[in-house]
Amino acid sequence: MTDKDFSVTPWEVSGVVDYARLIRDFGTQPLTEELGRKFSALAGEKHLAIERGVYYSHRDLDLVLKDYEAGKKFFLYTGRGPSGPMHIGHIIQFYLTSWLQKRFGVNTYVQLTDDEKFLEEKSPTLEETNRWAKENALDIAAAGFDPDRTFIFQDTEYIGNIYRLAVKVARKVNFSVVRAVFGFTGETNIGFAFYPAVQVVPSLFEDSRCLIPCAIDQDPFWRVQRDIAESLGYRKAAALHSKFLPPLTGVAGKMSASMPETAIYLSDTPEQVRQKIWKNAFSGGRATIEEHRRLGGDPDVDVPYLWLQMFFEGDDAKLKKLHDDYVSGKLLSGEMKEVLIEKVTRFLKGHQERRERARDSLDSFTRSGRLASAMWAKTYGLDTKEINRG
Ligand code: TYM
Repeated sequence: MTDKDFSVTPWEVSGVVDYARLIRDFGTQPLTEELGRKFSALAGEKHLAIERGVYYSHRDLDLVLKDYEAGKKFFLYTGRGPSGPMHIGHIIQFYLTSWLQKRFGVNTYVQLTDDEKFLEEKSPTLEETNRWAKENALDIAAAGFDPDRTFIFQDTEYIGNIYRLAVKVARKVNFSVVRAVFGFTGETNIGFAFYPAVQVVPSLFEDSRCLIPCAIDQDPFWRVQRDIAESLGYRKAAALHSKFLPPLTGVAGKMSASMPETAIYLSDTPEQVRQKIWKNAFSGGRATIEEHRRLGGDPDVDVPYLWLQMFFEGDDAKLKKLHDDYVSGKLLSGEMKEVLIEKVTRFLKGHQERRERARDSLDSFTRSGRLASAMWAKTYGLDTKEINRG
């Protein structure tokens, strides 16, 4: 959607996002406390990002849980547009998805859209997006997926297996719909006009309900999916939407690969993390220490605090103390930054080690694992019964 103050599309986020308004504009449902409680109860464990309201909106999550309670399986689908190195905001989606996979014991499909990122204006070459897909796959595998229940695929390689279903989807979607939903114009290249069909297809990989964890920017695709899925004999996709981890530079917009100062990449070294947070992280502190001590800081716009709240400080009591000490002026913005630097550095150390180890298991996700090999043996749009029994 686009309006005067902010804009959220799958390819651009600008301004300060009004998340409640997006729920209204996109026609999604708020993730209520009651549904969150039911979710955690069925998962058998709480998840910080759900508890803290990072995942705040959904479509049909209630139906997914109802299916699950009735002994019916669902499956997970998520993805990444490989235009460059992944940042911390992206990886949140994959850690949450792997947690869901573990808690519910379900199949997971991860689409790497090297086609989409090539088609995007001002994008890298196709060779670069092909290469970034392979690099990003390692970060995704590091998030802890089950190699036998997860299939990670790259569109330019797997398209032969999905094309039949993509054309079935494409015939159901006319240009005025994608123009309205995605804001396409006469200048949009024809690859982009077809691309939404490709991103819809994995949501139809199994007969059961598909649950898609993602940030809210991807929802327009699911709107198209939900318009046409039943007419093709499939289910409407369910989605679980997160807010964006704000850019280091302040709450407006989202972290961008083309503006390295806005983001912490998964490959950043401890020195880079320290430097970026000290130099670029927008602070809600006062201009001088004296003023800060007297008047206190504003955690609501302080990016280090917001990152701690959304992802990095799991202990509620410690988070509350950081909040209260900041408001009272006891904690300085440099001290808040140090807390974040320590957490981010520790997280990245663990992630980078897992990423190295994932080199050995990557082939099971992309080719040889139980789900991956079954998927390579399958052409979607023919008959999905066999795989659904697997
Ligand atoms: P991409 O590569 O733009 O983003 C990958 C995932 O990260 C989410 N995301 C964020 N989450 C939190 N904070 C942020 N600052 C942030 N920025 C991005 C995105 O919503 C996404 O979940 N077209 C997709 C690739 C794709 C896909 C999918 C994504 C294909 N199929 C199914 C989700 C679900 C893309 O370019 O994502």
